[in-house]
Amino acid sequence: SKKILVLISGSGSNLQAIIDQVHLSDEPGNIVAVISNKADAYGLERAANAGIETSVVASKGITDRAQYDQALISEIDNYQPDLIVMAGFMRILTPEFVQHYSGKMLNIHPSLLPKYQGLNTHQRAIDANDEEHGASVHFVTEELDGGPVILQAKVPVFSDDQAEDLAARVQDQEHRIYPLAVKWFVNNRLCMQGGKAVLDDVELPEQGYA
Ligand code: GAR
Repeated sequence: SKKILVLISGSGSNLQAIIDQVHLSDEPGNIVAVISNKADAYGLERAANAGIETSVVASKGITDRAQYDQALISEIDNYQPDLIVMAGFMRILTPEFVQHYSGKMLNIHPSLLPKYQGLNTHQRAIDANDEEHGASVHFVTEELDGGPVILQAKVPVFSDDQAEDLAARVQDQEHRIYPLAVKWFVNNRLCMQGGKAVLDDVELPEQGYA
């Protein structure tokens, strides 16, 4: 069974969706720990309620990125995870960190990558008058929000949408696609090979599985 470790910074609604799937099914995976860089992240309570070990590697006051990532690596490696799931973990990672877990790290990003890497994705989609927006699950590589896409979900953008309306619509879809990608990984159906996402031995296209 695969050991999953989840990194969070906030609410942890994606964490909850993944907990629900792992607990409600007999997937060959279990969540060994949830680590937050913020002590007050609500996701820590979600984890505790589900009986999952939690820990905080506080980033507050640490300005040296390499130093923080080293501390995070030491904590993560206590659990020897097979998969690291970044679920609203709002930090940029050093190349050293990413290389240490190469091919084992997933992230969810609230846009249809390669569009809108970085922050404020919902407002940017509204400002650009986009007709559709969404979320992407991808493998993490050294390129920020640039790793190969595994799965995307699209939602419509309505003319009276505020950023928070659109965020809520996108998050509903995140809760559907992220557990699915985790399930593929723990079932050994998904891997990263030659910088591409590969599902059932087939290289996925730029937009991921369709
Ligand atoms: C999610 O919408 C995720 O896509 C986004 O943060 C939210 C976390 O929500 N991630 C990023 O913006 C990464 N740069 P959650 O804590 O409720 O899962």
